[in-house]
Amino acid sequence: MASTAEQALQKVSLLGQQKTAVIVGGTLGIGAAIARHFAKLGCSRIVIFGRNETRGAAVLEALRALSPKEASIKLEFVQGDLSDRKSMCESVDAIQMASDNSIDYLIMCQKGLPTGTIDKNADGYDTAFAVQAISRFVLAYLLTKRGALAPGASVLSIAAQGQSLDDLSADDLSLERHLASGISQTSMFLNQSKRDSCVLDAFHEELNIRYPQYRYFHLSPGLVSSEQFDVNKFPGFMKYAVWFGQKLVGTTPDKYATLPVYLLTAAPASADRYFDNKLKPQKLGNWAADAGNREALWNKLVDIIEEQ
Ligand SMILES: NC(=O)c1ccc[n+]([C@@H]2O[C@H](COP(=O)([O-])OP(=O)(O)OC[C@H]3O[C@@H](n4cnc5c(N)ncnc54)[C@H](OP(=O)(O)O)[C@@H]3O)[C@@H](O)[C@H]2O)c1
Repeated sequence: MASTAEQALQKVSLLGQQKTAVIVGGTLGIGAAIARHFAKLGCSRIVIFGRNETRGAAVLEALRALSPKEASIKLEFVQGDLSDRKSMCESVDAIQMASDNSIDYLIMCQKGLPTGTIDKNADGYDTAFAVQAISRFVLAYLLTKRGALAPGASVLSIAAQGQSLDDLSADDLSLERHLASGISQTSMFLNQSKRDSCVLDAFHEELNIRYPQYRYFHLSPGLVSSEQFDVNKFPGFMKYAVWFGQKLVGTTPDKYATLPVYLLTAAPASADRYFDNKLKPQKLGNWAADAGNREALWNKLVDIIEEQ
């Protein structure tokens, strides 16, 4: 698929189409690589969102160099943090302003890597979970509801897809009951990864059902060696598994990024919204496939925003 996508992208041009791409978590790794592809294609406006201003400025400089002159590209770095409700809502306002309410592509790559423990944010939720999952809901939902998406827009999330934590409860999204049961840090880490996947699958599906005029994609990246990828952040035996996996099947951000960019700009229209790291269509995980679970989660996530 990677070579098909690469070949197809050589024939794509966004020049003259006045497209706006917003790339959240675009200062590094997969997000920055996706931004580079969009710049090469002649996208006319790219907004990069992240915390680190120096890295943001470096990405903008690279995008300007890659963009064809005729694109007269507009570039903006929006600085913000996505680790609690208040900062997420402020980020939505700032993104809306930077994109003039006409986002064609909203791409979310922000990383909240599980820790195997719970480090609570100002709202009482696990901080890594807030960045990885809650913030993606807040951005996608509020930008959709506020009319900040252009007609036919696509929203795309890069994060592990299709896993299931079958006993997940919408009333314990931080997995406090799992931690209290005395499980190991590695098991907690694995449960947190599955939880993130359930939550992301479930609300993407609800967004697809509730707002069929837009497309909400969720893609697993597999193993991508982004600049800050560090096996030492994985607990226990997972360090070794991830290290071997990277050596055997890992890829680079720029190679991987051809797949999501192909999906958004060149792939034939299809009803598929969930994909593996080779862009093969996937089903929802078991937990997210259950409409009752999705409804309970949706109500909980909307409550999180409305508590503001
Ligand atoms: N790489 C892989 O092999 C792999 C495998 C499975 C899943 N994933 C998932 O794919 C996504 C992209 O991964 P990646 O490897 O490209 O990650 P990465 O290189 O670490 O980049 C993560 C991005 O998230 C931003 N970010 C982190 N914390 C943030 C916060 N609190 N608020 C706002 N922005 C924040 C970072 O920017 P600043 O530091 O500037 O804020 C950076 O731009 C992540 O969700 C990751 O979990 C990756």
